[in-house]
Amino acid sequence: MNHASLTIDPALALSEVDPRLYGSFVEHMGRCVYTGIYEPGHPQADERGFRRDVSALVRELGVPLLRYPGGNFVSGYTWEDGIGPRAERPRRLDLAWRSIETNQVGVDEFIGWAASVGSVPMMAVNLGTRGVDAARHLVEYCNHPSGTYLSDLRRANGSADPYGVKLWCLGNEMDGPWQIGHKTAYEYGRLAAETAKAMRRVDPAIELSACGSSHARMPTFGSWEATVLAETYDLVDYVSLHSYYEERAGDRGSFLASAVDLDRFIEAVVATCDHVRAVGRHRKRINLAVDEWNVWYQSRFAGEENLDWDEAPRLIEDTYSVTDAVVVGDLLISLLRHADRVKIGCLAQLVNVIAPIRTEPGGPAWRQASFHPFALTSRHGRGSVLRTQVDSPVYETAAHGEVPVLDAVAVAGADPSAVTLFAVNRDQHQEMVVDLDLRALPALATGEHVAVFDDDPDAVNTAAQPDRVTPRRRDDVKVADRRATVVLPPLSWSMLRLRGGAA
Ligand code: AHR
Repeated sequence: MNHASLTIDPALALSEVDPRLYGSFVEHMGRCVYTGIYEPGHPQADERGFRRDVSALVRELGVPLLRYPGGNFVSGYTWEDGIGPRAERPRRLDLAWRSIETNQVGVDEFIGWAASVGSVPMMAVNLGTRGVDAARHLVEYCNHPSGTYLSDLRRANGSADPYGVKLWCLGNEMDGPWQIGHKTAYEYGRLAAETAKAMRRVDPAIELSACGSSHARMPTFGSWEATVLAETYDLVDYVSLHSYYEERAGDRGSFLASAVDLDRFIEAVVATCDHVRAVGRHRKRINLAVDEWNVWYQSRFAGEENLDWDEAPRLIEDTYSVTDAVVVGDLLISLLRHADRVKIGCLAQLVNVIAPIRTEPGGPAWRQASFHPFALTSRHGRGSVLRTQVDSPVYETAAHGEVPVLDAVAVAGADPSAVTLFAVNRDQHQEMVVDLDLRALPALATGEHVAVFDDDPDAVNTAAQPDRVTPRRRDDVKVADRRATVVLPPLSWSMLRLRGGAA
């Protein structure tokens, strides 16, 4: 059995959590939209064609922000194709995913649906095949009240009130050679700056995110951000980073420490932003949008060149295990630990495509194992992140060097006598006894422990067994004398809620 200790002190507040940290991502890719959120004719479809069963799960997941409509898809997208009478909308080739886009869902349907599930869009504009004009027109269509061609077109299409879309992505992964309209950092930086200027002239209240690196192993990582921000610093609010993880060659120890890699990636991007700030004598700080992150078994994807121009093909529908769920929970711990600079996070994606929710066409919808740590963190990880000093044993990994066995972060809620600890025990075989120093929180008297773990760390949820993996209550929290102890199972994600009241 391992032992670790940590101190929780509300005086050591790092930052308020921006609720947009708990965003997700809906791309026109595979079955995320079609037969995912939208399936007219399904027994659960509402009058607009959206699946009620899926909407209920999205509400339960708790995603206040949804990035849309891509992803690689957006770099070839003509947003005007997706508005107006459905029968007149064109079928198009989607070059990103070698699929057919029917345009039966577009901006109006998506924004309406997002509101119905308690979410707002983070809208991406096409800076691959298009540019300033298409982007400024989309802002006008969405946000201008009335009295112009595009705002009146929105009204004619059924939305009298402007949508007030606040957050916008200036393209997607423009550093990637796979991207349609891929650019050098300077080319993209200039285009992003001019697009940002025009978009802000239409609506000065918007916030803009520039494309950072598609992953930390990109050859241009670091210099890309520096060049792009040198061109755009005063015009943007965020720079993005994308990060996906998978277990490689059976190296579970490294995989379980994926959050260490995300920590380093985030800290390197923060350093680059602050370097550009210093060089340019800027006052404001650029914050981070981790607007694609998840576990994704990319090694199992045959590649888009092998796809066959299908409508809503089954693409990268990864099935997530308990181990994957623990890593997803730990990646959220990493995002929370950087809540002073990471304001936006988007779990990629929402339904079917590397997603916490799965569906069958005409059939059920269910929660993947990874749904659970996300939903619990989104619900209970609101408030103020505390700087959490962890004293843990370490182990050696091939991918990340020496890493702590215990990863944890504490969040103080609005109620000052309640603190929530999110923790991961990366040891695959041994329990971890965690000793919490609560001297700064004398009112805490009770604790509730919920964990995701299993005798079989490869256990998954399926349509036939949708609740094989669920969070389990553990009756092992002891609070006394301003200390608490809890026992974390091997290879587990845990949430510990400490409260005041009778012991
Ligand atoms: O989320 C799947 C794809 O991953 C997105 O389209 C792209 O932005 C990223 O490479």
